[in-house]
Amino acid sequence: MSTAMRREERVQRAAHPFVYPAMRAVARRGPVVRVPGIGVVVSDAALAREVLLDTEHFSKVGPGAPSDLWTPVLGPAVLLNMEGADHAALRRSLAGLFTPRAVRELARVEADAALGTLAARLLAGERVDLVREVEHLAGTVICRMTGLPPTDAGVREAFGAAREIVGLVRLHRRSLTPRQVSRAREVLGRLTRHAGEAYRAGDPATVPGRMAGLGLSEREALGAVGAFVLTGTETIQSFTPRLVALTHDAGWLEQLLQAEAGSALRTRVVEESLRTTVPSPAMLRSVRAEARVGGTPVAAGDRVVIATLSCCRAGGPFDPGAPVDPAIRHLWFGAGPHFCLCMPLALAQVDAVLDALAPVAAAGARLRVVRRRVARGVLIPAYRSLELVAEGAR
Ligand code: HEM
Repeated sequence: MSTAMRREERVQRAAHPFVYPAMRAVARRGPVVRVPGIGVVVSDAALAREVLLDTEHFSKVGPGAPSDLWTPVLGPAVLLNMEGADHAALRRSLAGLFTPRAVRELARVEADAALGTLAARLLAGERVDLVREVEHLAGTVICRMTGLPPTDAGVREAFGAAREIVGLVRLHRRSLTPRQVSRAREVLGRLTRHAGEAYRAGDPATVPGRMAGLGLSEREALGAVGAFVLTGTETIQSFTPRLVALTHDAGWLEQLLQAEAGSALRTRVVEESLRTTVPSPAMLRSVRAEARVGGTPVAAGDRVVIATLSCCRAGGPFDPGAPVDPAIRHLWFGAGPHFCLCMPLALAQVDAVLDALAPVAAAGARLRVVRRRVARGVLIPAYRSLELVAEGAR
């Protein structure tokens, strides 16, 4: 195994010392394996896609599905616990929020506030922890989503709240305990209180204000904001430092920083890093009616665990030069009706960080990772710190 992949392995094992090796072992046993107490585990990309597209038999609502976790916290209608016509209608209403142009502007403004001085500090010889910088960016985006003022304290509060709620989830438990539910509702309530005010003010500079303009009810708007905060914070905070670490370790970072946003090279390296790291490593579905996954029969009430990480890793180790397997492409963002609604925002935030680091490469300096610590016992595997320096500026 290459050094780059070994270091990625360490990130995964620190987060899930038992589940990660077990999930990889299940993948070696076959594409579809029934694991008692866990569910029917799918480790093959083509079969995973079949399940995700077949909403007649597989649902995000029902026993063992995400609705068990999130409905008590977010309410019954927040996209990730909906199906059918209501789900499609809400997604259509939200589509206007995440046009590529709208999110580019959102991430650009945030980048100026959070990351604007990053390259200058590195070039001046400062050692920078990229994890802290990305947390600041993620916190600023939450502020914008919820209408909180993006002061330093506001940004810290927003990021801390999202992290606390996601941190309550444990892979081995299908739902939150009543105490966890009330804590999560209290923390989320503090964030969405601002969102309610922003919605009622209808200010188009805020996401809730724009939702009011799109004709969403206040309840729908607040539910969507909660869903964005919960799904979109840790994933980005996990991925961006891992992208930099992985490309650094594999010798691709310089080329990545020299490639412009939207160029084929940047897109390819970022996608290959997403395929290798898979920030959202599993997807859950509840079986609605008797069906087969590959050759395996499943019955109503069974739980299907799509091991997205295993599906994507079947494409081999990190290699941006290798051809892309069409069965795997974008599976890291899901497939079918629940495909990540905010993919453009996620990619715009990644671009914002790469654009903020690009002047280091333009000045002829090399970005080097000088110290890293992995995060232990977290839901989404991540670095706890990733310290960078710029070497050899002209
Ligand atoms: C690298 C970052 C991200 C990755 C890898 C990722 C991955 C995913 C995946 C795999 C799903 C589908 C889950 C399923 O079908 O069960 C999903 C759904 C979703 N994601 Fe993302 N996501 C990322 C960032 C974001 C961001 C930044 C936001 C918003 C701020 C976001 C919001 C959502 C929402 C709302 C859904 C649910 C859509 C629905 O059910 O219709 N995600 N994401």
